[in-house]
Amino acid sequence: MAEKVKVIILVDNEAGQGLKNDWGFSAYIESNKWKILFDADTNPKVLEYNCKKLGIDLSKIDFAVLSHWHHDHYGGLTYVEKVAKGKKLYVPMEKVMDFDFEIIPIKKSTKILEDVWIIGPLPFSIAYEQALAIEIKGKLIVFVGCSHPGADSLAYEAKNFVKKDILWVVGGYHLPSYRVLDNLAKISEFISPAHCSGDEAKKYVRAKYPEKYLEVKTGSIFEF
Ligand SMILES: [Fe+2]
Repeated sequence: MAEKVKVIILVDNEAGQGLKNDWGFSAYIESNKWKILFDADTNPKVLEYNCKKLGIDLSKIDFAVLSHWHHDHYGGLTYVEKVAKGKKLYVPMEKVMDFDFEIIPIKKSTKILEDVWIIGPLPFSIAYEQALAIEIKGKLIVFVGCSHPGADSLAYEAKNFVKKDILWVVGGYHLPSYRVLDNLAKISEFISPAHCSGDEAKKYVRAKYPEKYLEVKTGSIFEF
């Protein structure tokens, strides 16, 4: 069981000093037990540049998780497959594209390690999106890519499947309604609308739930 977790936002829509950014999302999560990549941004060059600047060696990851098959999440996998060839890549529902990974489609919420779960995939339009949940000190951190099925739906699924309270929901919330943000505030200690969430969502959370708001941008580092 992980005792300490470090989260590094490799790429977000919001720029970080001395780093590159674009429309996309990628997070690196490291504990004393494992190293995980969640999503891989749009641009392999941006991802590579930021990894080098931040001192992250993706060849050391245990596995990667792709939230959904949209380019602003899988685009940078062409860099990741160069350095982490053959590692496991968990994808929602089905293999849509081929990469030099061991691609593992996930069809329902699944425990991957004693403190790591893939949540969903939940349907949206004609596709599926999954989230990543990790346990730290008895609570869950939930990583979401774009939250097409709803950030609150993915968080509820994590809470119900793992049967643990939520510490933090971080990632793209996909221009959420105030209701979605209120739902998240009810079930999570901290909330971080990032990537595709939009300025309105950030403004709303910052004003209504200042004690819960954790600002995220490219290069943000959090330790739990
Ligand atoms: Fe996205």
